[in-house]
Amino acid sequence: MKLDSLVPNQARLFLFLYLSAAVWPMLAVSGLTKTFDRDSIFSGFDFTVSLNRFTVLIGPSGCGKSTLFDVLTGACESNGGKMSWQGNRVDNLGDLAAYMHQKDLLLPWFSLLKNSLLPATTGGDNRTRAEQRAIQLFARLGLTGYEHHLPHQVSGGMRQRCALVRTLMFNRDLVLLDEPLSALDSITRKSLQSLLLLLQSEFKRTLLMITHDVDEALLLADDIYILSARPMKIKEKITLHDKKPRDFDKPELLAIKKRILQKLEGDIIHVSE
Ligand SMILES: Nc1ncnc2c1ncn2[C@@H]1O[C@H](COP(=O)(O)OP(=O)(O)O)[C@@H](O)[C@H]1O
Ligand SMILES: [Mg+2]
Repeated sequence: MKLDSLVPNQARLFLFLYLSAAVWPMLAVSGLTKTFDRDSIFSGFDFTVSLNRFTVLIGPSGCGKSTLFDVLTGACESNGGKMSWQGNRVDNLGDLAAYMHQKDLLLPWFSLLKNSLLPATTGGDNRTRAEQRAIQLFARLGLTGYEHHLPHQVSGGMRQRCALVRTLMFNRDLVLLDEPLSALDSITRKSLQSLLLLLQSEFKRTLLMITHDVDEALLLADDIYILSARPMKIKEKITLHDKKPRDFDKPELLAIKKRILQKLEGDIIHVSE
């Protein structure tokens, strides 16, 4: 009798959770506004990030992309607007997202392994378990044998791999990436781009990335937001349906690339006028 009355409740709960994930985007931002002194960086900015998708923001330098991330993470206060996480209002993403910058931000006096363990150390996780997990991630990201090297003893690409391990050690479903590969040479960049795809396919992260590289956006993104110069607005949202890895010679992809470049070019001309 007791069980009978429990099952429908559980079924209802599962249905509710299932529908919630299907109906609400993981992150929804509406009317977000930011001004520095009297300078409007963005105003009434709306966008969404869907669960398990790779969303890319592409826009001219100085348009306000990093400021948007600072507002999302709570590093900087907005001047208005709303943010919802899976349908629930939040002030900022705080502990909900991991954040990776263009600079690796590794502590120079700590080994790569110790650097990767910082989230676990500050989060109070079990040290042995965290270390085992970090060592597995070092192997998966091609860093085995470098666990005890200091950051200055390895290449820029390896430091960014270590920063990726540290990002994964945060165990957050959403990862924000602010031009994480822009300081790397093109060959290292290619191998790191494949690792970013692993974050989505193997580690099941939802990704929101800023880039200024159109090819990188076409290689990685499911959804691309093309942004205008300041005050930053969304010029267009493009959804890519092709499976990854993508064939860059496909006419559809070349047409999308042309469209993005045209939209961005308009702004570069506008900015320099
Ligand atoms: N703390 C700040 N105080 C005043 N202006 C700022 C501050 N941070 C950024 N800005 C200005 O906001 C604009 C957007 O900067 P940013 O978000 O870094 O652009 P992007 O990441 O798109 O290159 C720039 O013009 C920059 O000078
Ligand atoms: Mg920036």
